[in-house]
Amino acid sequence: MTRISVIGCGYLGAVHAASMAEVGHQVVGIDTDAEKIALLSQGKAPFYEPGFDELLRRNVESGRLTFSTDFADATQAEIHFIGVGTPQRPDGQGADLAYVHAATDALLAVLPDHPERASLVAGKSTVPVGTAAALAEKFSAKGALVAWNPEFLREGFAVDDTLRPDRLVYGLPADPEQAKLAEAKLDAAYAKILSGETYEGRDWTETPKVVTDYATAELVKVAANSFLATKISFINAMAEICDATGGNVTTLAEAIGYDDRIGKKFLRAGVGFGGGCLPKDIRAFQARVDELGLNETLDFLSDIDAVNVRQRSRVVTKLADALGGSVEGKTIAVLGAAFKPDSDDIRDSPAVDVARRLIAAGAVVRVTDPKAGPVVAKYAPDLPFVDTVDLAVDGADAIAVLTEWTEFRQLDPVEVAGKMSHNIVLDGRNCLAKQAWMHAGFSYLGMGQ
Ligand code: UGA
Repeated sequence: MTRISVIGCGYLGAVHAASMAEVGHQVVGIDTDAEKIALLSQGKAPFYEPGFDELLRRNVESGRLTFSTDFADATQAEIHFIGVGTPQRPDGQGADLAYVHAATDALLAVLPDHPERASLVAGKSTVPVGTAAALAEKFSAKGALVAWNPEFLREGFAVDDTLRPDRLVYGLPADPEQAKLAEAKLDAAYAKILSGETYEGRDWTETPKVVTDYATAELVKVAANSFLATKISFINAMAEICDATGGNVTTLAEAIGYDDRIGKKFLRAGVGFGGGCLPKDIRAFQARVDELGLNETLDFLSDIDAVNVRQRSRVVTKLADALGGSVEGKTIAVLGAAFKPDSDDIRDSPAVDVARRLIAAGAVVRVTDPKAGPVVAKYAPDLPFVDTVDLAVDGADAIAVLTEWTEFRQLDPVEVAGKMSHNIVLDGRNCLAKQAWMHAGFSYLGMGQ
């Protein structure tokens, strides 16, 4: 058992804290948001994430997992994981490190001056390359070591990705003695995960571990997200070409995906990527390499970003074309608000952006989502939200499916058609059974098909 603190209790930190308790450690989660800490302390998840509620409740009840707003409660820990957010700066493309600095300053202030044993500060947040080295300098004053240990979890699969990750990456200090100490501490935290003990019900598997320096570990994370974003924008560019030529992007993706050098995953064309990670990470990566003087190296990521954002305007244009040239005065049901299914996260959500663009173009919009209602009410109160699909489609001229929730994929098109004024469906995630919707009398608009 290791004593662990996890600083920052959002999607990443809260799931990491509960997972560390689940594998037997004594964990305290720290966050400055008192409301969030109050909920977590009662074993209640402050956001929707499949499987997280049970994991949280179980570990809070066992006493292995506690939460606090007071950094002093972290001082007993041997390892401090930093999982605070690094959003896009309000005044530019780069990452805003304000939360990283606030969290590490607050931690530094409570760490003992003459520790018996050096503690380890393990960064999990996505940061610009160079951050870990700067933090190591800062913590050396208190004899604490720094490691960078990026997180690759996907929302919607956060629990599984944390307990059964594809790989663990350790960015360690340059000094060999310090590196050995830091590696041993991380190994202790991840012992069960590394050994594969958490892979219940599957073939016994060891988790690959990549041991490297700070810069590589920081870069692995942004490189991975940039590559994923590139795959999505690549297939969306192919979708644009399919639209212009009568091709079918779904078939194209399937056919190229049989080549396992390419692979089938992350080639689903549609309204593009959103969320709190991919969009801001490609912008921050570019901003950082510009600072390093490599101004042209990541220019292609601007195109990746532009292709992605263009899918949102393409949706509006397709709807306008189908509705006689304009969406003005037309009632459009927007199915989906979350940036992807099985999440209530609406950060940089394509669905939210498209809904706003439709409203700006004069449409009467009704948004619905199975889980994101409360988040929309809090963070996007400008959107007219209704609780059910029935309310959204009632008398509508068109529907736009922008998040591929199972509830939406399984809708009965005949039943939906009966409730609408005009039968136009825009399948912004290419997730509907096209033939069934056409048989039900719908004009079907796909993305590249
Ligand atoms: C992403 C990465 O996948 C994780 O590995 C990473 O840890 C995480 O960011 C992070 O940096 O914290 P996430 O943002 O949860 O995870 O979501 P993804 O599953 O990557 O999806 C991102 C967006 O791409 C969604 O809007 C999704 O709808 C879209 N997408 C995904 C597509 O449009 N097409 C696809 O084929 C796949």
